[in-house]
Amino acid sequence: MGKIRKVFICSECGAESPKWFGKCPACESWNTCVEEVVSKDTQEDKQRVWQVAPSISNKGPIPIALTDIQSGTTNRIETPNQELNRVLGGGIVPGSLVLIGGQPGIGKSTLMLQIAMEVPARVLYVSGEESNEQIRMRAERIGTLREECYILTETNTSKILTHAQNLVPQLIIIDSIQTLASPNLDAISGSISQIRECTGELQRYAKETNVPIFIIGHITKEGSIAGPKLLEHIVDAVLQFEGDRHYTYRILRTLKNRFGSTDEMGIYEMQANGLREVSNPSELLLSQTDEALSGSAVAATMEGMRPMLIETQALVSTAVYGNPQRSATGFDLRRLSMLLAVLEKRCGFPFGQNDVFLNIAGGIRVDDPAIDLAIVSALISSLEDVAIPDKVCFAGEVGLSGEIRAVNRVEQRIQEADKLGFEQIFISKYNTKGLDPKRFNIQIFKLGKVEELYNMMFK
Ligand code: TYD
Ligand code: MG
Repeated sequence: MGKIRKVFICSECGAESPKWFGKCPACESWNTCVEEVVSKDTQEDKQRVWQVAPSISNKGPIPIALTDIQSGTTNRIETPNQELNRVLGGGIVPGSLVLIGGQPGIGKSTLMLQIAMEVPARVLYVSGEESNEQIRMRAERIGTLREECYILTETNTSKILTHAQNLVPQLIIIDSIQTLASPNLDAISGSISQIRECTGELQRYAKETNVPIFIIGHITKEGSIAGPKLLEHIVDAVLQFEGDRHYTYRILRTLKNRFGSTDEMGIYEMQANGLREVSNPSELLLSQTDEALSGSAVAATMEGMRPMLIETQALVSTAVYGNPQRSATGFDLRRLSMLLAVLEKRCGFPFGQNDVFLNIAGGIRVDDPAIDLAIVSALISSLEDVAIPDKVCFAGEVGLSGEIRAVNRVEQRIQEADKLGFEQIFISKYNTKGLDPKRFNIQIFKLGKVEELYNMMFK
């Protein structure tokens, strides 16, 4: 017989300790201690389990040749929501558990209710946060009501799963995991052990019945999904819904996906009647004025697998009060400082005496290094007060010695710029391998150093 034993585990790093701790002795994070019950087998017990095993094999799963397993990719549930399909890697996989994280008020409930109302299947939408009336009011606003969409306001997992068994839905949505509580545990809902237990129960249900389950999860101040990294390990896919609340764009990113690429992302726009899919983001993110203004440059970026043209704006003005200010929206401030230092050192621009403000259109956060070249151009353009002509865009990374470095998928970027009617694109000269300029109408300029950019554009 195994003996019951309790341990305390750090929910961040998984370190074990025999007694409670406030600060994890291994990773030094605070308040991450959770109590766990484990049963410890003695050496003899372990051996017995191993010897018994052969007789179990005719009940449980048995080893099966890879070639004999039927592929499960063909029966994905395609939703009418193309952006969601794209992010999931081509529709919802039966029996999968998908976690959707995001800050409060970003639109997670709206997105999920919209899916519940659109998917051509029987859906059970479980809400622990809103009442039936509130959900109905929201539903009326964002779409047409449908009979096959069931709403359940319940937080007890055992009751939820019993209802699910009776209703036999083809998709379950849980809003949110932090409100659920399992009767198997005494802990309050929202605690790490409850979140883990409830997710475990949902996962078992999903795997046994082959019903896909979407779980909404809130995000902590630090930006990780509240509760736990552990939760991210249990589920099959983790999607993150993000965006600046003051703008209307929302991005659905894949952080983890067992059934597809994590490079995909979906773009939505929050409107008065719910979320609208944005299938051509470039058009929204480009300037709304016709005249060319100084300090603005267009970058041909890639967000995941998708080319996107984004406008970057810089304002450089003489610093009046003491220390020059630097501020960046949608771009890493340290990277901006680095680009300024490169411009100062390599080309002698006096940015040190100027305030610098940088803004990426639409409140979108860009991590793609290829945006560097556009930012550098916008900075020089604002400093010199010379406008960059219309229909010109940039794609290149700027290195510390002022060299323009090659970027990935340059052909796709050029193609997108071409499609959108741009006439000139500036890329790195190291990026031209296998590139056939004759395929495009757009004129391609190749640069090796930042100085060349200055000479070509602003002299
Ligand atoms: P919600 O889905 O409740 O956010 P979450 O579940 O992530 O906390 O979205 C709330 C925000 O969305 C709220 O600020 C209002 C806005 N909204 C719209 O602009 N239009 C709409 O049609 C809906 C339903 C919400
Ligand atoms: Mg909500």
